[in-house]
Amino acid sequence: MSAYIVLGAQWGDEGKGKMTDYLAEDADVVVRFQGGNNAGHTVVVGEKEYKLHLIPSGILYNNKLNVIGNGVVLDPKALFEEIEYLEGLGVSITPDNLVISDRCHIIMPYHRVLDGIKEKVRGKKDIGTTGKGIGPCYTDKMERSGIRACNLINKEVFKENLKEALEVKNPIITKVFGGEALDFDKVYEEYCGYAERMKPFVKDISVIVNKKIKEGKEVLFEGAQGTLLDIDYGTYPYVTSSNTIAGGVCTGAGVGPTAITNGVGIAKAYTTRVGKGPFPTELFDDMGDWIREKGHEFGVTTGRARRCGWLDLCILKTSSRISGLTSFAVTKIDTLAGLDKIKICVGYKLKGEVIDYVPASLEDLGECEPIFEEFDGWDESIADARSYEELPENAKKYLKKIEEFTETKVSIASVGPKRNQTIKISDI
Ligand code: GDP
Ligand code: IMO
Ligand code: MG
Repeated sequence: MSAYIVLGAQWGDEGKGKMTDYLAEDADVVVRFQGGNNAGHTVVVGEKEYKLHLIPSGILYNNKLNVIGNGVVLDPKALFEEIEYLEGLGVSITPDNLVISDRCHIIMPYHRVLDGIKEKVRGKKDIGTTGKGIGPCYTDKMERSGIRACNLINKEVFKENLKEALEVKNPIITKVFGGEALDFDKVYEEYCGYAERMKPFVKDISVIVNKKIKEGKEVLFEGAQGTLLDIDYGTYPYVTSSNTIAGGVCTGAGVGPTAITNGVGIAKAYTTRVGKGPFPTELFDDMGDWIREKGHEFGVTTGRARRCGWLDLCILKTSSRISGLTSFAVTKIDTLAGLDKIKICVGYKLKGEVIDYVPASLEDLGECEPIFEEFDGWDESIADARSYEELPENAKKYLKKIEEFTETKVSIASVGPKRNQTIKISDI
């Protein structure tokens, strides 16, 4: 029996899609447990590149069950756009290989509108959200006024829910923010259309996932975003609105902690972040631009340029602790190839002390002065390495440093975006 988590150990975009696809070869079930279509997971199979936002990365195999858990916020419009996009690439999606939790909260048009308006109102203090309505949808969930998949597929219940929602949202949109009211009939008709199409996919996923675990099937929980975007442990308020850490699996997929056997943190060999918020090892010079260009660091969901900086081991150590990670998969080692010297942050100087964790207060994190250790670089040939032995000695030293500092082994090294550009160092 094995049920394990693949999650982002930094600020998202670590290569979770690639690693989920790689690990899913042996899995029976792939489950998304949080987030929504704010995620952008890239998977490269052969010469084809797939960009997934909402649908689990196991969908590219034809023999896996893919599950959208109750912790996900689901935009039906985005779902069907993604299904059509994938079908156009030859991927078949049916209720046999995709199930959606009946408890999923639905992203409605007013959530997207409010996401945009609230960002504008925040002005200089904007979060830099993806604009997909994620925060407003989770707000309604917690406030107990959300619409769930099981409500959406019941026409009468949905009618009632939508009426109640618009009675509250329209005055906020028009009177508070000066926006345009949403028309009940238009939204109702559009969403009833989605509901009809969604119905066959909507099930109690906790029942399904736990049955699979009991049968001894391998279940992979695919995280979205990353540890420092977590609503509790991230760089609040510059975070997303869900629990991206291991704890999110239990609430977001209806499984107990005892079912989970291990956790793999996906860590990029350097650090990136999209959107606003503190970033201690950020590079503002040519080196940052060099990494961005070489690593093609532009967002999958919004196309925004990602901020780039050196690897920060305080972040990885924090991530390992919070999620009880059993190993790391380090991606994009090939991107750093060709550099003479590479820096790693091994501590923060804060108010005369040295710490090795990410503090809660943004003011403290902003004051943290990274302590760097310098490493010798490695050459360009690394993308063809297929075993640990083939990695340059300096790359091995880099990985060893990650293991020592975080007290967590590195089980996988990734040297390119393709499935086969992956080196298994040890079992996850
Ligand atoms: P995710 O959100 O964590 O799934 O990551 P993204 O897909 O947003 O961003 C990761 C990017 O890096 C994608 O374009 C991947 O194809 C690519 N990628 C993943 N692993 C590697 C790697 O080891 N080397 C290189 N060069 N690219 C990689
Ligand atoms: P994947 O799964 C990187 C960031 C946004 C913004 C903040 C809040 O591809 O790693 P939101 O729309 O969630 O309210 O935005 O979170 N963000 C991500 N950054 N990768 C992601 O997903 C992200 N999803 C959200 O840029 O700073
Ligand atoms: Mg991404």
